[in-house]
Parts: sequence; C-alpha cells; structure tokens
Amino acid sequence: MEDNFCRQINYLRIAITDRCNLRCRYCMPATGVPLKSHEDILRLEEIVTLARAAGSTGINRIRLTGGEPLVRKNVVTLVRELAKLPAIKEVSLTTNGIFLGSLAGALKEAGLSRVNISLDTLKKERYRYITRRGNLNSVWQGIRVALAAGLTPVKINVVVTRGFNDDEILDFARLAIEEPLHIRFIELMPIGAAAASAGGYVPMDEIKSRVERVYHLEPLADLATNGPAVNFKVAGGQGSIGFISAMSSHFCHRCNRLRLTADGKLRPCLYWDGEIDVKGPLRAGASEAELAAIFARAVSLKPAEHHMETGWRQTRVMSQIGG
Ligand code: 5AD
Ligand code: SF4
Repeated sequence: MEDNFCRQINYLRIAITDRCNLRCRYCMPATGVPLKSHEDILRLEEIVTLARAAGSTGINRIRLTGGEPLVRKNVVTLVRELAKLPAIKEVSLTTNGIFLGSLAGALKEAGLSRVNISLDTLKKERYRYITRRGNLNSVWQGIRVALAAGLTPVKINVVVTRGFNDDEILDFARLAIEEPLHIRFIELMPIGAAAASAGGYVPMDEIKSRVERVYHLEPLADLATNGPAVNFKVAGGQGSIGFISAMSSHFCHRCNRLRLTADGKLRPCLYWDGEIDVKGPLRAGASEAELAAIFARAVSLKPAEHHMETGWRQTRVMSQIGG
C-alpha cells in the first residue's frame, strides 16, 4: 500500500503488551507507567484477525514489540498463528532478551524468523543501573540461544546516550567483528522518560567517525529489512554495524511502517499522537474488509516526517508505543 508521499507501507509493528519486566531509565519512571486494564488490551485472536486484515492491504512483515513481548502469555502460540497467515512473509520480534534463553527454541519452531535484542551496555553493573533490575547474564544467555536456534540475523539495538554509554561504542563495534551479531546504534529520542534529556543523544556522524577511526566500514545493502538503519560491513567481521539516526537526520522518507498499540490503536507515526481506534470497530463486529479500510486510512494519514528535534507533543512513552 502506498501512502500520500509515495512510500510503500508493508511493515506492521504490533505491541502485544504494555508491560515490561525492566524499567529502563530513558523509557520509564522507576514506578513504571499506568498499565491498561486486561479488557483494554487486544486478545491474541484479535491480534491475529487484525494482522489478517492488514495482510489484505499489503502488509507482509510483522514485528512483535511491547513493553516486553516475551512477558505476554502464549506469545509462542501467537507467533505460530501469525506465521501461518498467507500474506505474512516474516514475523520478527524486538525483546530485551531476558526471557529469550527459555523461549528462543519454541519461538523458532513456531515460525519466528529473527530477533532484535535491546542492549545498551556490556558492563554488568551499568546494565543493572540502566534497566534498574536486569541481569546482563540473562541477556547473554538469550543471545547465545537465539543464535543457536537460528533466529538470525540477530540484531543488537544500542541506544547511545552521551556520558552514559558512549564510551562503549568501540566495544560494541568489536562485537560485530568477533560474533555474528549485527549492532545497530540508535540516537536517543525525546520520548517518555528521555523527553527531558533530548540533548543526550550522540549524533550518528559522531558515532560513525569514532568507529571509523579504528575499523574500516564498507556500505552494505539493506540487511533483511528496508527499515531506517544504514548498514555497514566491518572488514574481517562476521556481523555488521548499522546506524539509526532519528534526530540528526530524518529517515522519514524511507518509512515503511504502521504501528498497532497493545490497546488497539493504529499509529501512523511513532512520534505523533494521532491514533486511529481499530479495537472498537473490531469488537463491534467489523468485517475483514472494513478493518482493512481502517488500515488504509491510517496509511493515508501518515505525515511526511516527524519533528522530534523541535519537541512535537508526545504523550505515550516507548513501552506504550512499541519502539
Ligand atoms: N530513544 C531511542 N530508543 C528508545 N527505545 C526506548 N526508548 C527509546 C528512546 N527514548 C528503544 C529500546 C528498544 C526499542 C524498542 O526502543 O531500547 O531497543
Ligand atoms: Fe522495558 Fe524496553 Fe522500556 Fe527497557 S526500553 S523498560 S526493556 S520496554
């Protein structure tokens, strides 16, 4: 499906829960965020129905997000049902990795293609600090099991915050050489708890030139995605390094996605509060064609670009949008 700015929209990110087992400092306050009640959250069958309708409009790739998608009960069953939909070519998942060690095998068997794992530091104490409760060993275990299960390419999302983890840029770059891991550096966006620290992001040009002082980067054709990352192969490395710059340069002209929140709202843009309710019509008995029409309307409402750098109003935090 094409939007009003000639972009092909074929990718749907579905937040399957607003809950999370961590409390990352840039994402949530220590006390968490108010959670939706059980009835407000889409049931698994409802998610499948919506995905089928989305498929009929040209969506062919789905990513499950959250909150933390692996805290949702029966996530493996959901993956199996979504992977069965004829229109859907790929189901992937973005996770903090804590529960991946125990779930990666079953997820792969159910038809999951690959995983992105959020990991902002390689230091144990720092990981505990930024997540307020996470254990870095669990994430490493998750990464190992995901690789062994063949949930590849395994990508590691690294949100870079000045003064917090920008001293680890080269350590992450080295990981892309020593392991078959695809490191993607992300500029901190002024969303949620990070809204107050909008100046905290490190521009991609700076991250890239720090890496290039030590490693030779060769441009790479898009890696199993046509998303916002600009990817490079590192000479001699098994993995790759990618850069996602939401702040210093817009990737909006390449935007290919819609978002569905856990409480059943379609979001045409990550950083814009415009939302279209799809849960109401679904529960009122809308047909698949009627639901597809709502997806089409959401696509037609996609703005040309976001204005994050000037502080566009944003009321949800990341765990309520799905990243
Ligand atoms: N800026 C950039 N990325 C963020 N994430 C959460 N909050 C922010 C923010 N303010 C990331 C998580 C995860 C992905 C879903 O979104 O680290 O990798
Ligand atoms: Fe949870 Fe992800 Fe938010 Fe961290 S960034 S608290 S892992 S939803």
